[in-house]
Amino acid sequence: MRLLAITILFFMLLDTMLLQTLAHQDLPSAERVPRLNMKFDSWRMKLSWDCEENTTYLECVMIHKENGPITIIPQEKECHCEFSDYSLHDGVTLMVKVNSTQRPIPETLVYANSGGNGTAAQNFSCFIYNANFMNCSWAKGQAAPDDVQYFLYIRDSRKRRERECPHYIEDSGTHVGCHLEDLSGLTNYNYFLVNGTSQRTGVQFFDSVLSWKKIEIYSPPNNISVFCNASHCLIYWEKPKTRYRLSNMEFKYQLDIQRKSNKENSENQLIEVPGNLENSYNFPSPEPRPKHTVKIRTSDARIQKWGAWSQPIEFGSGNRGLVPIYALVVLGTLITVLTLGCLLKRFLASQTLFPPIPRIKDKWTDGHRPDHQVIWENFTLDTEKGDNEEILTVQEVPV
Ligand SMILES: *[C@@H]1O[C@H](CO)[C@@H](O)[C@H](O)[C@H]1NC(C)=O
Ligand SMILES: *[C@@H]1O[C@H](CO)[C@@H](O)[C@H](O)[C@H]1NC(C)=O
Ligand SMILES: *[C@@H]1O[C@H](CO)[C@@H](O)[C@H](O)[C@H]1NC(C)=O
Ligand SMILES: *[C@@H]1O[C@H](CO)[C@@H](O)[C@H](O)[C@H]1NC(C)=O
Ligand SMILES: *[C@@H]1O[C@H](CO)[C@@H](O)[C@H](O)[C@H]1NC(C)=O
Ligand SMILES: *[C@@H]1O[C@H](CO)[C@@H](O)[C@H](O)[C@H]1NC(C)=O
Ligand SMILES: *[C@@H]1O[C@H](CO)[C@@H](O)[C@H](O)[C@H]1NC(C)=O
Ligand SMILES: *[C@@H]1O[C@H](CO)[C@@H](O)[C@H](O)[C@H]1NC(C)=O
Repeated sequence: MRLLAITILFFMLLDTMLLQTLAHQDLPSAERVPRLNMKFDSWRMKLSWDCEENTTYLECVMIHKENGPITIIPQEKECHCEFSDYSLHDGVTLMVKVNSTQRPIPETLVYANSGGNGTAAQNFSCFIYNANFMNCSWAKGQAAPDDVQYFLYIRDSRKRRERECPHYIEDSGTHVGCHLEDLSGLTNYNYFLVNGTSQRTGVQFFDSVLSWKKIEIYSPPNNISVFCNASHCLIYWEKPKTRYRLSNMEFKYQLDIQRKSNKENSENQLIEVPGNLENSYNFPSPEPRPKHTVKIRTSDARIQKWGAWSQPIEFGSGNRGLVPIYALVVLGTLITVLTLGCLLKRFLASQTLFPPIPRIKDKWTDGHRPDHQVIWENFTLDTEKGDNEEILTVQEVPV
């Protein structure tokens, strides 16, 4: 009996000793590791944990496959960290380092993209066009089941506005794209998430952080106009409207000037012009000048991505758009004489005899009288639009 009791006691002692050594091997610091119970809200990129009294949390770390460790120091007494936006679809490891007398003890949480491999949306891309619209597209994952459905969510980097795609583009019932007409609240960088559902299997998500500067496709320039003299044609334009206000220097342009020859084949010239204060190109083109067309497209000055071509603008003989400077001078003189004549006649005779002359007179008597240069330009714009036939007939007066 006594022997048995001693044996039991011996084994119990041995057991506790063994346990102690094991515990020491696991935790050389001999300090109790707090159970943080970490949680990660992937949509808000927020890591939180249970607060413990008298514990300081030194830092939060996100170990990202592409961007390496990203460290944030939590505010005193706070038990959460909010990371800026990173793509999470490759999975991340999150750590919180707790202050300890000997060394910081990290606690980790592995955040994985759960679901079947190859089920996530692939080839995801978006572009902004006409300053106010955005189209996104993606393809079904190779391993995605037939009943898969995808959903797109977009959030700005300040985490203030989030929205689901308002108008999906479908391919036999599956969402494969999105069209957005309201980009309000979106910031320079935005977080895009495509997640999915299926009855058969878990569907992985795809996410991406896109900068508007990289995804905006610029419209063609505005108000393209051509002014020719005997030897040159000056092509003018205005920078296009973009989502965010950009300086002229942030654009570049490509001009495609085509010379129409009698036969069907026409020669063309591609000219690249950096954006500058003038936004113009002086094209050497001596008279007699055959018919030409010019169309222009826009790109970011640094990241080359050409937008659509503008409508072609014609200049050269046989074209109403061509208004040589000397013709303008003659035209101007004529109009001045005519207007003065009318004013004189009106002064002398009764008003009913002379109905008011539209447009030209309005401009002439306008409150602040613009200088001549502006008036000539306005005339060319009007003739281009073809809404002032009186001027077009004057233009044909032989010089
Ligand atoms: C926290 O620290 C205070 C004083 O420093 C002490 O009175 C208290 O008992 C500590 N609480 C715990 C849970 O250790
Ligand atoms: C870590 O905790 C000790 C007390 O346990 C404290 O003296 C020290 O200042 C703390 N370190 C930091 C960085 O908070
Ligand atoms: C999915 O792919 C990853 C890496 O490509 C691999 O480590 C993992 O085991 C795969 N999972 C399944 C369920 O096949
Ligand atoms: C996705 O893109 C890759 C390469 O960019 C291409 O080979 C593949 O065909 C595309 N998949 C789909 C479904 O469009
Ligand atoms: C964007 O998507 C809409 C809806 O499918 C389509 O009508 C429009 O043409 C697309 N825009 C561009 C520039 O592709
Ligand atoms: C997809 O993500 C959004 C945003 O976090 C969430 O509201 C939605 O429930 C998710 N849907 C699925 C099917 O996981
Ligand atoms: C074209 O120029 C006119 C006059 O300078 C201006 O009123 C108009 O807004 C411009 N058009 C565009 C699309 O910028
Ligand atoms: C036409 O304009 C160009 C530049 O604007 C100038 O160099 C040239 O002398 C002008 N030619 C005539 C005939 O006025």
